[in-house]
Amino acid sequence: MAQTVIIGTGSKVPSRVVTNADLEKMVDTTDEWITTRSGIKERRIVTAGETNSYLATEAARRALEAADLTPQDISLIIVATMTPDMPMPSVACLVQKNLGAIQAGAFDISATCSGFLYALTVADRFIKADPRQKILVIGSEVLSAKVNWQDRTTCVLFGDGAGAVVVTGSQEGDRGILTTHLRADGSLWELLTLKGCGSRYPIDSDLPREEFFIRMNGREVFKNAVRAMESVALETLAEMGLKGEDLDLLITHQANIRIIEFLRERLAIPAEKVFINIHKYGNTSAASIPLALDEAVRTGRLKEGDLLLMVAFGGGFTWASVLMKW
Ligand code: ACO
Repeated sequence: MAQTVIIGTGSKVPSRVVTNADLEKMVDTTDEWITTRSGIKERRIVTAGETNSYLATEAARRALEAADLTPQDISLIIVATMTPDMPMPSVACLVQKNLGAIQAGAFDISATCSGFLYALTVADRFIKADPRQKILVIGSEVLSAKVNWQDRTTCVLFGDGAGAVVVTGSQEGDRGILTTHLRADGSLWELLTLKGCGSRYPIDSDLPREEFFIRMNGREVFKNAVRAMESVALETLAEMGLKGEDLDLLITHQANIRIIEFLRERLAIPAEKVFINIHKYGNTSAASIPLALDEAVRTGRLKEGDLLLMVAFGGGFTWASVLMKW
């Protein structure tokens, strides 16, 4: 059977850099607090005209270029996002228009920070059904529009950006996606929310203003994130008869350096096999894994034949893993 392979990666981040020193002027915080609690030193924030669909389109163009394909070669565009330009139309449709991908279907996936791995898993099943297809899978977020810039407990954590991959089927060797796992626990939804703008709370409802922004119980999110990511990672490795030491690279959702470090220790993976770029971009939700993936490819950290484990966790709660041979 054909395996799903990634044949091109791309990314796009806004040019505006907001450092921890910049945030010190906006809220009661310090570079030291942000760095030790999260590992973040700076993040990219959009300026006028840089919409989610613009970032997604530019990341997609770069992935197409890397794959040596044209937009007309694409049969499906899947965008993982929790910050679309607007509820309707989808970001995927705007990307389809921007690219002129006239043969493509297009839809968005909502699985918060796990969204890219959910989207990649869906694309994997499409490829299994028809390995000739070429599918664009994009994670793209403008979280700065949904962050309360007066709330120091959240505004220091997030950033904007987009990453994209092109997938297709391959019969060659054992390269490609080996196994995927999707999980969710909606009973914990209230620990991480963005309530405003949904249909439950119309514009004239009495929902407090702060509920129109991302709200979270940081400690509970932290606890659940480490537990869930460890369990899905161990389940994935066990299913394939592998140990952490067999991996060549671990790319996790870049939410917090302490979560990544915890997972690294539990999986017994040496530090040099864990990809980290949270210090540059903060938490970019669904964009964080494809952003990291593109950087890992372009800097030579990820090489053909490498065993790569990707693990994510986010609001919902959702969590997921994808294991692949690069
Ligand atoms: N600067 C300075 N002080 C702050 C800041 C800030 N930016 N934010 C909070 N504090 C204060 C708090 O008010 C509190 O003060 P108090 O003790 O006087 O009340 C103190 O710092 C400790 O606050 P905690 O919330 O207990 O700090 P904690 O050690 O839990 O770290 C953090 C907070 C970084 C959010 C942590 O809980 C965490 O990483 N959680 C994971 C959540 C996460 O990564 N969410 C991202 C979205 S979900 C996802 O992507 C997985």
